Amino acid sequence: MVGIRDANVEVVKGSDMKTLPTLEDAYLLIENGLIKSFGPDAEAPERADEIIDATGRFVFPCWCDSHTHVVYAGSREKEFVDKINGLSYEEIARRGGGIVNSALRLANATEQELFDAAWMRLEEMEKFGTGAVEIKSGYGLSFEGELKMLRAIKKLKEKSKIVIKSNFLGAHAYPTEFKQNHEGYIDLLINGMLPQIADEGLADFIDVFCDRGFFSADETDRILQAGAKYGLRPKIHANELDYSGGIEIGVKNHALSVDHLEFTGDEQIAALRNSGTMPTLLPSTAFFLGLHYPPARKMIDAGLPVAIATDYNPGSSPSGNMPFVVSLACIKLKMLPEEALNAATINSAYAMDVVKQMGSITVGKKGSVFVSKPISSLAFLPYSFGSNIVERVIIANN
Ligand code: NIG
Ligand code: FE
Repeated sequence: MVGIRDANVEVVKGSDMKTLPTLEDAYLLIENGLIKSFGPDAEAPERADEIIDATGRFVFPCWCDSHTHVVYAGSREKEFVDKINGLSYEEIARRGGGIVNSALRLANATEQELFDAAWMRLEEMEKFGTGAVEIKSGYGLSFEGELKMLRAIKKLKEKSKIVIKSNFLGAHAYPTEFKQNHEGYIDLLINGMLPQIADEGLADFIDVFCDRGFFSADETDRILQAGAKYGLRPKIHANELDYSGGIEIGVKNHALSVDHLEFTGDEQIAALRNSGTMPTLLPSTAFFLGLHYPPARKMIDAGLPVAIATDYNPGSSPSGNMPFVVSLACIKLKMLPEEALNAATINSAYAMDVVKQMGSITVGKKGSVFVSKPISSLAFLPYSFGSNIVERVIIANN
């Protein structure tokens, strides 16, 4: 059984990331959806309503996928082919594809259709062992569209056993009608959408795509400060396409996480050190878009914590497969299996503010765990990339 932690451990950083506390020949007792006790098998209680024999298998705390966009309409495989033919992600966006393309499709979908499509995606993610998911808005890009997305997320929260957090990403791209009028859109975000979203309790966090060609560091700063007035903590997109200033602005605004970080140098690492902001890497996005990978090794060796997530979305990472992300973290980011597993559980739980309930085997946390197929060692999980070694997933009732 892996990922055993005391309740006071909320983040694992630097050289501690290569330690993943493990117990062999263990028992785990789940009662009323919570972890009641665990320990050596010899001390297992004699009775339980249901007993699962996990001989030869590993038991993991469920993945926490702290960065996704699983509420969206349609798909974008035409742009996928455009990319194969040589167009870049930014070029596609300039030609009216990308996020704005998804916004057009979303405008024609009902809240129920959005809910149904996202529900199917969540079901598939659960089969890969995911027990908590952060979901962003950001394909609405209009008052009605953003509210429709956030209301669909709210309904997913209510109906799913998966723990869900909602992130308002109205500042994902400038909609076509505001391309030449940034102030107009920022005004709509701050004075139109935010008060209504706060009023309906539709968001836990606020996000901005702070990058070249999208939102500048100054624009991001203003939007995050406006969100803070409504108690929305930032979790932002930063430094995916360039040194955008997003990491520094995120840290300044006490972001829970800054995500992507393909462009991270010594100054950005220094800004993150001793902050409460979790650097979150999305290796399947770099994989899918053919970007260079973020310097995970450098970050961990500098003493930082690192989280990983899927970024599941129609444009840059159309997959919610956390075991594959763990494999990529090892293969491409040169993280050790233990580091990747900590990044996908305890640290990603912190990055989405669910670490009190999820992310480790800890008495009192949710009994959301998965059991592997019989495997020879922990490293077999990332090593066997692309295959699903998950045999059984138990998601605690909320
Ligand atoms: O996280 N980078 C910004 N947003 C998404 C992509 C959204 C899209 O292309 O639809 C991301 O990669
Ligand atoms: Fe994203």
